[in-house]
Amino acid sequence: MDKVGILVVSYGSRAAAMIDIFCRSEIFLPKIYVVDKQRNPFNVEKAEKHVVVSNLNVEEICRFAKKYENHIDFGIVGPEKPIINGIRDLIEQETSIPMICPTRRFAIERSKVVQRHLFQRIVPEVNPRFKIFDPNDHESLGHIRKIAWAWLDELDDKVAVKPDNPAAGKGVGVWGDHFTNRQQIWEHFLANYQQGPVIIEEKIDGEESSFQAFCDGKHLVPLPETRDYKRAFDGDEGPNTGGMGSYKNTSSLLPFMTLADREKEIEIVNRIFKELKGKGSNPELRGIPFYDAFIHTNIGPKILENNSRPGDPEILNLLPILKDDFVDVCFRILDGRLRRVAFEEEATVVTYKVPPNYGGYATTFLNRVKRNEIGRPVDLSGAYKLCREHEDHLRVYPGSMELREAKDYALTSRAVCVVGIGNDIERAREISLEGIKAIKGGELWHRNDIASREHVTKSVRHMEKLRMF
Ligand code: GLY
Repeated sequence: MDKVGILVVSYGSRAAAMIDIFCRSEIFLPKIYVVDKQRNPFNVEKAEKHVVVSNLNVEEICRFAKKYENHIDFGIVGPEKPIINGIRDLIEQETSIPMICPTRRFAIERSKVVQRHLFQRIVPEVNPRFKIFDPNDHESLGHIRKIAWAWLDELDDKVAVKPDNPAAGKGVGVWGDHFTNRQQIWEHFLANYQQGPVIIEEKIDGEESSFQAFCDGKHLVPLPETRDYKRAFDGDEGPNTGGMGSYKNTSSLLPFMTLADREKEIEIVNRIFKELKGKGSNPELRGIPFYDAFIHTNIGPKILENNSRPGDPEILNLLPILKDDFVDVCFRILDGRLRRVAFEEEATVVTYKVPPNYGGYATTFLNRVKRNEIGRPVDLSGAYKLCREHEDHLRVYPGSMELREAKDYALTSRAVCVVGIGNDIERAREISLEGIKAIKGGELWHRNDIASREHVTKSVRHMEKLRMF
């Protein structure tokens, strides 16, 4: 087997999954060089070389890449921050390592305002109606309020308020979910407006799906659809989070989607891709430059936002069931010859276990949390044992966890996820929850209703009702 050196820039469980799938290659012998946010126990064990760059500063990441340049064949990046800050541009300028992620110029995730203008030009039919409020215009707050009020009148207060900058899913406020009167909308608006431009756009009633596609600069290869669970608590209550879990059906479609929905999404993203690509190929778009949140309505999908990287947890639904060799897929991306990828026809469910201070759990459910357990080590051994029992239909990927003196500790974000793989969504969910329950310590908690029959059925019924009109 050919040895291959791979640089992985890591934040969260997404990178642990990428490393795992690389290491399962049957064609190559991967040696993984990890730049990590912390000493992720999974990554430390798998890495040939491991370094912590806690702020994921691009110069420091590049220094590590340069040091091992002669051993590394390519690099891949999970989190948005270094991509937006130009990690690919810097590493490709300073070393001979080709990187799998878009260049800074094509990291359109950095600005929702730029995205809204782009969609308006290329795919106006899927762009919700929007208005931008920019503090750099130096209008008085009184004037801004007058314009905002007229806009809220027009939209009958049914709006989503979004900061321009990426806020890891946490800055967006939606009518009915995060506010129910105009004063609350205004407070949410002002909190974001102090940081930069804010969009007020129409709230779309529908069901969300996550679309992701690999791109080699020449071809766009759509991946199966997944559904993310953004809200912290069961029943889609509580604040937005980075994503508490997600599911994928056995086919490329979600149970509430039609083939026409999927085809429309592919058409939309292809139009955006072609416009950004220009004539011929554009290797600057390499990686997953289009991870789009869509919302399905009675008149087809609308686009909520575009990210320039793999989704977390959404990519975790896909990598474990990728039929192709992931290292080979990466080489094909680099060579501009990735035409298709194949997946097992399995359903997958990802459930995250998170610490009490995540998602406002400890303050909402004061009496559920045993304070003296917080910060104690987390024991993953029971879950790893189940991986063997389930013959790899269960995967455990630590995320915001740190290895200290041979013990694993949860940090402040999504600590560890379990992927269940099954021949339908229910079986995949059972396996995922079995793994989650086998993780002990640290007072971690999880949502119980990720991919539940009730939740999935509710989405299906909701779409049926919307489609009646
Ligand atoms: N699942 C949300 C995100 O990756 O941004």
